[in-house]
Amino acid sequence: MFYTIIGTQWGDEGKGKIVDWLASKVDIVVRFQGGNNAGHTLQIKNIYKLNLIPSGVVRGKMSIIGNGVVLDPWALSNEINKLSSQGVNINSKNFKIAENVCLILPIHKVLDEINEMQRGEENLGTTKKGIGPAYEDKVGRRAIRLCDLNNTELLKNKINFLLQFHFDRIKNNPIKNLDLDILFNKDKIINDLKQINNKLYSFAAPVWKLINEMGNTNKSVLFEGAQGSLLDVDFGTYPYVTSSNTTSGQIFAGSGFGIRNNHKILGVTKAYTTRVGAGPFPTEQINSIGDYLGEKGKEYGTVTKRKRRCGWFDVNLVNQSVKINGIDNLILTKLDILDDLEEIKICTGYLINKKKYDYLPANEIMQLNIIPVYESLEGWKSSTFGLTRWSDLPKDAQKYISTIEELIQTKISVVSTGPERTQTIDRENIL
Ligand code: GDP
Ligand code: IMO
Ligand code: MG
Repeated sequence: MFYTIIGTQWGDEGKGKIVDWLASKVDIVVRFQGGNNAGHTLQIKNIYKLNLIPSGVVRGKMSIIGNGVVLDPWALSNEINKLSSQGVNINSKNFKIAENVCLILPIHKVLDEINEMQRGEENLGTTKKGIGPAYEDKVGRRAIRLCDLNNTELLKNKINFLLQFHFDRIKNNPIKNLDLDILFNKDKIINDLKQINNKLYSFAAPVWKLINEMGNTNKSVLFEGAQGSLLDVDFGTYPYVTSSNTTSGQIFAGSGFGIRNNHKILGVTKAYTTRVGAGPFPTEQINSIGDYLGEKGKEYGTVTKRKRRCGWFDVNLVNQSVKINGIDNLILTKLDILDDLEEIKICTGYLINKKKYDYLPANEIMQLNIIPVYESLEGWKSSTFGLTRWSDLPKDAQKYISTIEELIQTKISVVSTGPERTQTIDRENIL
């Protein structure tokens, strides 16, 4: 059996918790896009924060970084060290990286900074991890790949070309405290890359081959999406998106796994909506409701510690994600955060220039002019925290969930009622 976990909103839906929960059932967990802009939190007595390494690693599952990821090798090395200090053993038997993965270098973080600076007040609010510039170099066919690090001559030529390509732009857009001599010191870059390669080369492998072989021998594979569908570079709120395809179509290009039957696509959706960074957010609540959701939900970015913007659940957005990803079932997280509210609203559609829309139009100006249409439901005003049985949920909480199911015409198979793996209602015995 094959599973995919995809975020249906703007990220931080609780994918990490759900991947960890589901990982008990699978043999391999694979990341297929994004990079260390992701922050996936697992709470199992200890708190683990994963950026690049698939969340199955905490259970000791085979963990794979696919070719669709952009990899900051120094960030990865730090993550391995941090996890080791928490008792998670990462070795070349349980962790593999696609040998053709493209690397994020220090220059990409500088370019991310410059890109944002040039946009001025209209900056995107990126994580400044160099994700966008690294993907640009990938499609521009200039990227350094993990497999290049073993060949000094090839590496020198590629570094030369890359540095030349970016030199003028960086020189002409000076950023504070940046030493150009260090940033463009070829010998230092090559030396640094060789050193980090000593730590990482034992993990490099043709992982596409491995995943397909395992897929053919009754092993279960779980694909771990990062970000969310509304951050997808094609289907998201462009240009306020990340630079990868975050939707399920990317699984195959980003890992080399061949399309197969028996693939269940599970969409993770928060019981309300959050977003970090700039861009349209039709149901955002810049008021006491937004403050309540942010505080009770501890809505601060895992990667950048920024405050997340908060608002009501948006049926149009999640409905669109269900279609684009081919989602079979939804997993609703953070239900417990709504526990104290008197009234809970669900956005059931949009009005733009007095016309009704049951989807998010691609046009940016239209997105900014959305008036959400709400349905109001009664709050349940009692604690659902940690509940593990559907029958124990208050009637109004059950009603909230079934209303979303009816509006989106998709079964909510799992409800998460707390950050721990056990705080989960498994309505269809997925585990
Ligand atoms: P991800 O990026 O989708 O993996 O999500 P993050 O880890 O960035 O953010 C989700 C946060 O909510 C984390 O701190 C989780 O521990 C926490 N969380 C996940 N599910 C639940 C839940 O059902 N209830 C509560 N209270 N917290 C949850
Ligand atoms: P997880 O996997 C939430 C957002 C950034 C910014 C935009 C572009 O934890 O859900 P980037 O650095 O990718 O170029 O930034 O995307 N963003 C995320 N928001 N969760 C994430 O990942 C995100 N990864 C990127 O805040 O608005
Ligand atoms: Mg996150």
